[in-house]
Amino acid sequence: MQHTDILVIGAGVAGLTFAIKMAERRPELQIKVITKSKLGETNTSYAQGGVAAVWDLKVDSYEKHVADTMDAGDDLCDLDIVKIVVNEGPERVRELISWGARFDQHEGSYDLGREGGHSENRILHYKDLTGWEIQRTLNEKAKTFSNIELVEQIYAIDLITQHHLGYSVTRVTPDITCFGAYVQDKARTEIDAIIAKVTVVATGGAGQVYRNTTNPTIATGDGIAMMYRAKGRLENMEFVQFHPTALYNPAGENPDFLVSEAVRGFGAVLRTTDGKEFMHRYDERKSLAPRDIVARAIDNEMKIRGNDFVMLDCTHLDKEQFLGHFPTIYNKCLSLGIDAMKDMIPVVPACHYMCGGIKVDAMGRSSLNHVYAAGECTSTGLHGSNRLASNSLLEGLVFAHRIAEDVDKIIDGISYKEGIPEWNAEGTIEPKEMVLITQSWKELKEIMSSYVGIVRNNVRLKRALARLHLLYEETENLYQTTILSPQLFELRNLITIAYLVTKSAHMRRESRGLHYTTDYPNKLDFLDVTIL
Ligand code: FAD
Ligand code: SIN
Repeated sequence: MQHTDILVIGAGVAGLTFAIKMAERRPELQIKVITKSKLGETNTSYAQGGVAAVWDLKVDSYEKHVADTMDAGDDLCDLDIVKIVVNEGPERVRELISWGARFDQHEGSYDLGREGGHSENRILHYKDLTGWEIQRTLNEKAKTFSNIELVEQIYAIDLITQHHLGYSVTRVTPDITCFGAYVQDKARTEIDAIIAKVTVVATGGAGQVYRNTTNPTIATGDGIAMMYRAKGRLENMEFVQFHPTALYNPAGENPDFLVSEAVRGFGAVLRTTDGKEFMHRYDERKSLAPRDIVARAIDNEMKIRGNDFVMLDCTHLDKEQFLGHFPTIYNKCLSLGIDAMKDMIPVVPACHYMCGGIKVDAMGRSSLNHVYAAGECTSTGLHGSNRLASNSLLEGLVFAHRIAEDVDKIIDGISYKEGIPEWNAEGTIEPKEMVLITQSWKELKEIMSSYVGIVRNNVRLKRALARLHLLYEETENLYQTTILSPQLFELRNLITIAYLVTKSAHMRRESRGLHYTTDYPNKLDFLDVTIL
């Protein structure tokens, strides 16, 4: 059994920013950051477009960024939270720059990009590799603190609560308290407990629950599923964001390669396969409308025409400037025989971002005592029913800072919990056939992609719930009887995510933001969150 003052699960923008902020404030505290993969294999590293922040007050304003965020979120954002993130965001970005992050400049000022739903240019970026640059900066900064221990290849399985001490814990139990987490070192099969005074969940998204996703393979919703098992509060899980423009690759790849929305911000235009513009028929902002609108429009055009993709036309753009801004996208397309300056790029929507997740308050506190959460695994109230482009990295930075402020105030009053039992692996045997896990994983992705995609209806959702129930029962049986592995943990977590998304979608009897159902095509007048 290991002890640490603070356990951080996840080393993306949210987890590492928190660890750095905390280490700066309290050098005497031990902060252990675990990541189930290698450092840098995060959604953060894949971010392309950039980080949205009000930068040039001569043309932009906090009010405009607030209004754009609220508008994209289709009236379901929490205005107080939106104001916090928008107002505090620029200061957090300045800190990131002071830690060494480079953002592109033009004639002595930051070159501010534009993406769907933004009324002004306010996206700071580093070419089309912004996430990579932010992750690099955070990795290097975190390593300068002697009180941060970064450990790779450690898989967090479950949050430890009173339940593990033999008490009955339900969703209505008051004061559920977390004492750390059970983890598996991926090099060994044994499971250890890490006992912590405070635990910060920063495990990122869950895009791997769909067949096509821009998210790397680490995005299996572990933190959200752990929180659900611990009986913590989640909300708004039906709002799954599909990015309109993943590169269509007939050979298939996981993850799908993203063609950043910044490319449309730079002037690229969506067209049908016969070269006709179509977005003006859906929204006056055309190719730069918010993501839910563009993704639905593309889905509709593909269905009407029986096509597997639509086209993104960059051929009219200046080659030198395009290559300066989007070298990775240009080269990726070229590797598939597409010269973006001469040929249109085939693109298709792909699962990209979870707007819902662990419910947290303005200081990042979850409903469980001593557990905070930050980043994509959370529902802070910022995104409502559809996240505005490039608001995610910003949210991670702002909430990481706020959590550090709060933990600083409370941690001295918390002691380590005694008497945490060892993990009980009695009666389990080596898995006989890995195919039981891999096949279920494929089935799960098919169910979600076929029945719980961009356009939904009750028949499909009910069918998905029935299929998911079967997968759940089979996987639970395997879980109880088999020596556990990360593949099985991830499958189990993804089934939980799939259930939460589908159940929440079924509960929402309206169409709003990213949730569109043909059974209830209109938006209701009253606002509500779906709580699970
Ligand atoms: P992540 O960066 O995903 O980090 C999660 C961490 O948790 C990882 O270290 C992982 O190993 C660890 N982890 C997960 N489960 C476990 C477990 N069980 N045990 C131990 N460790 C675990 N947002 C923007 O704002 N601007 C953009 O331009 C942008 N572009 C994007 C492009 C792509 C292709 C993608 C996929 C996303 C993009 N996003 C963008 C979204 C944004 O990148 C993510 O929402 C954000 O980076 C999430 O950060 P995070 O810290 O919450 O999680
Ligand atoms: C992109 O570059 O298009 C992704 C931006 C985001 O997800 O915020």
